[in-house]
Amino acid sequence: MNIIITGALGHIGSRLLDDLPKLIKIKKILIIDNLLTQRYSSLFYLKNSNYEFIEADLSNKDSLIQLEKIKEKYDCLIHLAAMTNAESSLLMKKKFINNNYNATKNVVSYCEKNNIPLIYASSTSVYGTQKKIIDENCTNDNLKPQSPYAESKLKEEKLILSKINKRSLKATIFRFGTISGLSKGMRFHTAINKFCYQSSMNLPITVWKTALNQKRPYLDLIDLVNVIGFFLNNKIFEGKVYNVVTKNLTVNDIIKIIKKYSKNVKLLKVNSKIMNQLSYEVKNSNLDMLNFKFIGNIEKSIRETINLFKNINSK
Ligand SMILES: NC(=O)c1ccc[n+]([C@@H]2O[C@H](COP(=O)([O-])OP(=O)(O)OC[C@H]3O[C@@H](n4cnc5c(N)ncnc54)[C@H](O)[C@@H]3O)[C@@H](O)[C@H]2O)c1
Repeated sequence: MNIIITGALGHIGSRLLDDLPKLIKIKKILIIDNLLTQRYSSLFYLKNSNYEFIEADLSNKDSLIQLEKIKEKYDCLIHLAAMTNAESSLLMKKKFINNNYNATKNVVSYCEKNNIPLIYASSTSVYGTQKKIIDENCTNDNLKPQSPYAESKLKEEKLILSKINKRSLKATIFRFGTISGLSKGMRFHTAINKFCYQSSMNLPITVWKTALNQKRPYLDLIDLVNVIGFFLNNKIFEGKVYNVVTKNLTVNDIIKIIKKYSKNVKLLKVNSKIMNQLSYEVKNSNLDMLNFKFIGNIEKSIRETINLFKNINSK
């Protein structure tokens, strides 16, 4: 199988580069990334020579000219490229939406033209605050994205669904929970990773006021890799949306786990516009119908993240 992965140098992509070849027979992986976040380390020590890298900004239409030069036939394009810090998107709305939406528009047009099935990485943040447990079968009116980042994800989903409806594109949309788990290109502005870093550095864990008991969906990277392997092996591109969540947890639950593996955990309550608003629980109804089995363990991924910093003594 030949696969293209955009944004492959990031937290999720760098783990896919290492682990997908263990699940599926891969001839070649084409990596496309603009190095926006400088994760050169994700290109280190790849296990064999079946990787190719194109440095390109997919939000720029000229990147299509670069893509059109590709000669091989690809079996799937996994689209991860995006600006991803939800909180900073509040300050840079236009930049986020332009980058993410335009990159997806160009990728979709490339997949349509070359008849390549698309896997799109959306986010459970498209749900926003919800009173009841929610799943993929809710109506669009129930979706309440609370940040420009989440708005751009929803706008991109709608573009993809419109192409699926016109039958010009085969695709699967995954709404991933917030990631926990190690990778060469991991980032630390997401909740669990930020808390693990802060506690390891002896810094207070910054928790937004009133949020200790708010629930959110989290996803172990192991489950993410397995779900993509499962869909590629079974060639499932029938145009549906799938939630992918290992566990819904409160901030309190996460801190209790961190306290098991990190000494002297201190809390500092802060104000954060976006984080104050969000509490929701998500069900994997569509994946359950496919009998996909989750094996991830958020506690283990937290322990492994804290362990990364074990040799640093911070005062
Ligand atoms: N990590 C999570 O918790 C999470 C949860 C749900 C959904 N997602 C989605 O999964 C995808 C990957 O997330 P991640 O955590 O690996 O993000 P990341 O920020 O670690 O990686 C994103 C990568 O995309 C690249 N990129 C950004 N804009 C680009 C452009 N215009 N052209 C080419 N490359 C570009 C960056 O250089 C980076 O390497 C994103 O679309 C994100 O929205 C992530």
